[in-house]
Amino acid sequence: MRNSHFDVRPTSGAVGAEILGVDLAKPLTPSEADEIRGALFEHGVIFFRDQKLTPEQHIAFAGSIAPININRFFKAVEGHPEIAEVRKEPDQKRNIGGGWHTDHSYDQVPALGSVLLAREVPPRGGDTMFASMALAYEALSDGLKRTLEGMRAVHSSRHVFGATAQYARDTVGRIGNAELATQDAIHPVVIRHPGTQRKTLYVNPGFTTHFEGWTAQESKPLLDYLYAHAAQPQFQTRFQWREGSIAFWDNRATWHLAINDYQGERRLMHRITLDGVPLV
Ligand code: SIN
Repeated sequence: MRNSHFDVRPTSGAVGAEILGVDLAKPLTPSEADEIRGALFEHGVIFFRDQKLTPEQHIAFAGSIAPININRFFKAVEGHPEIAEVRKEPDQKRNIGGGWHTDHSYDQVPALGSVLLAREVPPRGGDTMFASMALAYEALSDGLKRTLEGMRAVHSSRHVFGATAQYARDTVGRIGNAELATQDAIHPVVIRHPGTQRKTLYVNPGFTTHFEGWTAQESKPLLDYLYAHAAQPQFQTRFQWREGSIAFWDNRATWHLAINDYQGERRLMHRITLDGVPLV
């Protein structure tokens, strides 16, 4: 599809689109920034190829879409606190973001999304999966939709980034500041996406701990059902990285998962996260 400034090519029947004909090293005009924001909201995740960006240009692009959110837990790129490193060295076994999740759902005001730029990629593997939570919601039965309406869920950073968390232990040196893992937030289970007003399932296996007013044990069967439902391939797209590729995802509309199938190789990505708005 030709928009006024660039081409937008969907990458699956469900979610994701590649944006062609834009050089993100150059400052965006306000109408180009609006069009990129619009494509992000429509497709949930947008991809760019062959972008040769300095850290400053990466920051300028991300900041032209929304204010930058500085991550508490990720090691930052030297001299650039706005850029979090998503790194896996050849001798490290566990990757960052290797299970389905939505970044920052533990915050009272969860992040809008992230602009992830590939700096070094393995010769094969290391793809990232994205899943549409609007499609996942729409495919539920009317009865389950009615049950979820009005329910809220608790999200936390403690069991992921806290000192006793296995994930924090496995990624030590890349993820830190365990003492800052004190966030708990309650959000509706079904939100209205702030940009499109589309109803979207907003629970995720990474950070959601239980439904408000239910125990974790009571919540588990229904959460497990929703997770298995939402992780079906018809809601997904898969992105194969090259150096200079960018994935820009919307955390309110999608889950993502980084595939850990490149043992013995380095993968280095630079991630900038953007501020969102309260969810209703
Ligand atoms: C993340 O979960 O933020 C990282 C995704 C990736 O490395 O592909």
